Amino acid sequence: MEHTSRALPKIRASHISKVFSNGKERVEALRDFSLEVQEGEFLCIVGPSGCGKSSFLRILAGLLPASSGTIEIQPGEDPGKPLTSMVFQEYAVFPWKTVLENVGFGLQMRGVPKAERLTIAQSWIERVGLSKFIHAYPHQLSGGMKQRVGIARALASDPEILLMDEPLGALDAQTRTLLQEEILRIWEERRKTVVYVTHSIEEAVLLGDRVVLMTAHPGTQKAVFPIPLPRPRDLKVMATAEFGELTYTIWEALRGEVLKAMKLLGET
Ligand SMILES: Nc1ncnc2c1ncn2[C@@H]1O[C@H](COP(=O)(O)OP(=O)(O)OP(=O)(O)O)[C@@H](O)[C@H]1O
Ligand SMILES: [Mg+2]
Repeated sequence: MEHTSRALPKIRASHISKVFSNGKERVEALRDFSLEVQEGEFLCIVGPSGCGKSSFLRILAGLLPASSGTIEIQPGEDPGKPLTSMVFQEYAVFPWKTVLENVGFGLQMRGVPKAERLTIAQSWIERVGLSKFIHAYPHQLSGGMKQRVGIARALASDPEILLMDEPLGALDAQTRTLLQEEILRIWEERRKTVVYVTHSIEEAVLLGDRVVLMTAHPGTQKAVFPIPLPRPRDLKVMATAEFGELTYTIWEALRGEVLKAMKLLGET
């Protein structure tokens, strides 16, 4: 018996459009945006502010309906596991729950028994370096720590696809670098399918197998850049000429879109 699963991408988004209408106002966030993501691929999306990146991830997560177009996601073998889980742009942790309770939340919702839930949550808390804070509440944590909680929570639920919306965007440069290393390390262990939105081209090149560049609002696909840097990767790769060239090539393509986006903002 031959499996031809490679013919089926893990995610196929076809001709997605999204129009928000608030009363008389219509905002066209996405226009005819198509994208395929292979199983086990780390796909990064970059694009100017307001081009519809978060909207697209929300559509993938099923949190927002598309105005037109289709999303096909290949389910995994275990129907008990969630298809997607999301790490949000802003820290999305429950302030009234401890780190342990936050990380275990998705598992609790799925009815995973308490003992198993604690073991899984604890191991992810360890992996993201928060063991000392396992019983702390979010207000006792720094921004970087809260974002680690969000990442651990998404990973603990062991989704088929991890959706990450600028998970490190709100952090200082040093914490961001540390977490980039952690994300690389954790991803190399499991090779989950990841769709990762970032403003940082360096981050996209460091983490991604491919980088999709979106146009300014309304967002559509402008270009795709394969990132042939060897794996497993670590931060050393950033010191190579190849890394510099890839980053510069993408910046050249993005530059015009950013300028366009700024002009669009200036008009409103
Ligand atoms: N709920 C909403 N109602 C109306 N307009 C919205 C809504 N959500 C997003 N938009 C608009 O849709 C467009 C795309 O927004 P989105 O948040 O997806 O962009 P983004 O690429 O994630 O931007 P950023 O990089 O700043 O996070 C923007 O013009 C935004 O104002
Ligand atoms: Mg966004």
